[in-house]
Amino acid sequence: MELGFEENAALGPDFEGPWPAVPQGPGNSFLGLPVRSRFGLAAGLGVDSRWIGTFARLGYDILTYKTVRLHPRRAHPAPNWLFLDAAAEAAVGEDVPLGAGATLPADPAQATAAGSFGMPSAAPEAWRPDIARARAALAPGQVLVVSIVATAEAAQTPDAFVAEFSELAAMVREAGAQAVEANLSCPNVPAAEGEVYRDAALARRIARAVKRAAPDLPLLIKTGLVETDAAMTELLRALDGAADAVTMINAPARRFVDAGGAPAFGPGSARGGGSIALGCVRRAAAAIARDRLSLAVVGVGGVSTPARAAAMLEAGAAAALVASPAAWNPALAVEVKATHPWI
Ligand SMILES: Cc1cc2nc3c(=O)[nH]c(=O)nc-3n(C[C@H](O)[C@H](O)[C@H](O)COP(=O)(O)O)c2cc1C
Repeated sequence: MELGFEENAALGPDFEGPWPAVPQGPGNSFLGLPVRSRFGLAAGLGVDSRWIGTFARLGYDILTYKTVRLHPRRAHPAPNWLFLDAAAEAAVGEDVPLGAGATLPADPAQATAAGSFGMPSAAPEAWRPDIARARAALAPGQVLVVSIVATAEAAQTPDAFVAEFSELAAMVREAGAQAVEANLSCPNVPAAEGEVYRDAALARRIARAVKRAAPDLPLLIKTGLVETDAAMTELLRALDGAADAVTMINAPARRFVDAGGAPAFGPGSARGGGSIALGCVRRAAAAIARDRLSLAVVGVGGVSTPARAAAMLEAGAAAALVASPAAWNPALAVEVKATHPWI
């Protein structure tokens, strides 16, 4: 039987060891915080303190607690996460044929999957004490980032939407977050909440509100793909002085169809493969340097090998984070540190 997100989250993490010896590099810093490395977990597999603790022991040093909301929300019904076959990966345009039964390829670095979760969240009564447990599970030189999102409602004013972000920021700060990530991009939820990063003025308002609520914590703004240089310039200039970093990118939205062209899956997005994120990070870093902005870029998307992690940092990222690749190859952090100790 196919299990839903909540059941899988509660059952895992399915790692019984043996725990690897994690190579120690010279150490580094991330948004002013000392870290063992600039490699870690993006919002995704850090669904609770047990998952965060497991990836911390596996050598991931920047650990993002998966997006929390002010009110509990169940995930979309299963299936939530499916591998794409070669035909689906090669598809361009909006409609992607979803081949049934594709599995993890022999080389996990080559895998691409489609996800549709809908940003589920436990209730604050559950995640507040659990964030404290996640923080306690970290070693020195490891950093807990907590991702937050306000829930867009039909009758809600923009003021109320912004205020919800600041309420959440204060709560996660008090619970033990060392940095806050405001998720302004999620392809699997209604556009009002999933595409906020496309509204530069609103993104700036949210950033300033979060900063007021948690002034002593670094603030990251998670975005989706920014296609044009004009949009990139507008967004980054709006965030300059309001946030500390942009996290790029969440996976681009796609519509997955079955053999007959009918929707095969809930609203979905392709993740884990490709180099779209690397290009976006490179363009953001160039715009920041050109305009002398005080923003960092954190690279997420398709970092499935140590070489790709190095490429993110060489492109100007302050850190490289992974979601899907950590599921398919949990030893990735050890491999990154063994081959690129400077990261
Ligand atoms: C299982 C899973 C759950 C995710 N949940 C979130 C989330 O709650 N918030 C968020 O900002 N991004 C979420 N993401 C998106 C990732 O952070 C990331 O942007 C995207 O998957 C691309 O990175 P990847 O190629 O390393 O998977 C999720 C991704 C996966 C695979």
